[in-house]
Amino acid sequence: MRIFASLSLAVLALASFTAASQTPAAPKARPAAPKVALTPPMGWNSWNFFAEKVTDKDIRDAADQLVATGMKDAGYTYINIDDTWEGERDADGVLHTNAKFPDMKALADYVHSKGLKIGIYSGPGPKTCGGYAGSLGHEAQDAQLYASWGIDYLKYDLCSFIPEVMQKQAPNDKAAQMRLMIAAYDKMDKALKATGRPIVFSLCQYGWDAVWEWAPAIGGNLWRTTGDVQPNWGSIYAIISEQAGLAKYAGPGHWNDPDMLEVGNGKLTLAENRTHFSMWAMLAAPLLAGNDLPNMKPEIKAILTNPDVIAIDQDRLGKQGTRAYADGEVEVWTRHLAGGALAVAIIDAGAERYSSHPFHLSLTKLGLHGPQTGKDLWTGKTVTLTDNQAIELPTHDILLVRIPAPK
Ligand code: GLA
Repeated sequence: MRIFASLSLAVLALASFTAASQTPAAPKARPAAPKVALTPPMGWNSWNFFAEKVTDKDIRDAADQLVATGMKDAGYTYINIDDTWEGERDADGVLHTNAKFPDMKALADYVHSKGLKIGIYSGPGPKTCGGYAGSLGHEAQDAQLYASWGIDYLKYDLCSFIPEVMQKQAPNDKAAQMRLMIAAYDKMDKALKATGRPIVFSLCQYGWDAVWEWAPAIGGNLWRTTGDVQPNWGSIYAIISEQAGLAKYAGPGHWNDPDMLEVGNGKLTLAENRTHFSMWAMLAAPLLAGNDLPNMKPEIKAILTNPDVIAIDQDRLGKQGTRAYADGEVEVWTRHLAGGALAVAIIDAGAERYSSHPFHLSLTKLGLHGPQTGKDLWTGKTVTLTDNQAIELPTHDILLVRIPAPK
């Protein structure tokens, strides 16, 4: 992570070459891969709480807790080990784990014995973001190793590939650098497919170079659309805003990833946690919790396991929500659901205790006519939304309503 921070300035310029005219043709779509991630992946990842300190025991505890808290029953399936599990390569190039993870196969077996799946982390460069061994030159070997352990999910993080390969091999040629990056992700996807094991492929390159345009064609099941999320409102709201316009790229098997959940982390208020979780559901985002599961407070568990909100995220149509309109500090988002239902989310993004000017809902702007009856997914109550209705929300809070039969 620290290494990544120092890299980020040097590579900022890359973020600007997203124009379609500079986008090299994406590789052709490949045939019939095993069907994974038909709805956005749900699970838990070690990074947001443990970062580089994560150990084998933390992963086992997380698996135990996913079961004990009811999160597994709510749909959380993947236990993902992020960076810092890697050791050294031996003379044959085989990567070994470090002392924090004495036996990865045994750990994977343990996670599987709980009815869960297990994920791991690497990158296309010589080093990961944390400075551990990456997969450069060992892609097929690493993919086979993951499969032999029983790994079900790979997060593949760009990091050192930028200075060590892209900038070294193609200095001052951003289109060529981008081709190298796409080829690197393509190579790992082929290596994963060659194992014959269904493995979710998660691209982490921070949303550069219109990744949503080329990631599905190289087998990406999800791709980060942003830099790293932080457990504060500023970060979460900035990420929500950046997602407007990306809905058309998401669908079953291939999802925009606005980064993992910070629900229960940092100093997020309950309203902020609710809005964060609701909006990830509206965005059809992967729901990868990143909190301290053994010490989870009941109110955080209630948010992470709200079945109605999870059902929005996991809706089988897989149509990501869009921002319908904003009125001052209040934003209205909608998401079309299977069976003709509609989810409406109204956020007060302002910093005042209550929105600083009266907000009146426009149903016309949502394409709706007349009163709309639905369920408030946080109170569980039936509500009727009417045109021009005054709505007052506390700061950073959300009203999330599912309308089963919108008119
Ligand atoms: C990058 C990624 C994070 C995390 C760290 C690990 O910063 O974006 O999600 O994986 O690397 O080093």
